[in-house]
Amino acid sequence: METARLTLEPIDLAHLEGFHRIWSDPDTTQWSSRGVCKTIEETKGRITGILHDKNRPGIDNYGVFIRGSPATGHSIEPPSCEQSQVIGIVGVHKDDPVPELGYIFHPSAWGKGYATEAVSAFVRHYFTLRPDAPYIEAKVDAKNHPSIRVLQKCGFDEIETLVGGAELAWMDPPVRDLVVFRAMRK
Ligand SMILES: CC(C)(COP(=O)(O)OP(=O)(O)OC[C@H]1O[C@@H](n2cnc3c(N)ncnc32)[C@H](O)[C@@H]1OP(=O)(O)O)[C@@H](O)C(=O)NCCC(=O)NCCS
Repeated sequence: METARLTLEPIDLAHLEGFHRIWSDPDTTQWSSRGVCKTIEETKGRITGILHDKNRPGIDNYGVFIRGSPATGHSIEPPSCEQSQVIGIVGVHKDDPVPELGYIFHPSAWGKGYATEAVSAFVRHYFTLRPDAPYIEAKVDAKNHPSIRVLQKCGFDEIETLVGGAELAWMDPPVRDLVVFRAMRK
C-alpha cells in the first residue's frame, strides 16, 4: 500500500530490529497497555501476535516506511540512513468485539504528518478489505493529545470516555481515562 510519502508493508519479522527500535523506547510505548519491550525477544513475541493469520482475518498490521527505502525494494529517490528503517506500525491488533486500530511511530518521525497519512490510508484499506465492518474504533489515553489529534484529522468521532478504563503502572496517576473514537464506513 502506498501513500504520497509512505509505503505500508504487511508486518514481517524481517524488520524485527526496526520494530524493536520503536517498541524498546519507554516514551513511545508509555501509552500502550503492554508497555515497553525490554528485549528483542519480547518484541518478537509482540510482532508474532499480530502477524497476518488466515484464522484471524480481521487482524491486519503494517510496517510503515518512507518511500524510497531499500527495505521496501523501491527506489524513487536516494535513500538516507533514516529511510532504511521502519518508522512506524499501523493496523488492527484486535477485532473482537470491535476492530481496534493501533499505531505507533518512532520519535524521529513525529510531527511530520506521517501517522495521519498512514492511519488514513490504513482505514480506507480496512473498509475495503472487510466489507462487513461498519466501523473501526481506537481507544486513546485522554492525555495523549498528539494521538487524539491524529484521529480527529483522520475523521474519527469521539464516542465516550471510559473513566478509569486502563491501569498503567508506570504512569502518574496509574489509573487512566480512555477516550473511545470511531470512524464509520463511508
Ligand atoms: C501519536 C503519534 C502516532 C503521532 O505521530 P505523528 O507522526 O507525530 O503524527 P502527525 O504528525 O500525523 O500529527 C500529530 C498531530 O498532533 C499534534 N500534536 C503534537 N504534540 C501535541 C501536543 N502536545 N498537544 C496537542 N497536539 C499535539 C501535532 O501538531 C499534529 O497536529 P496538527 O497537524 O494539527 O498540527 C506519535 O506521537 C506516537 O507514536 N506516539 C506514541 C504511540 C502512541 O501514542 N500511539 C497511539 C496510541 S492510541
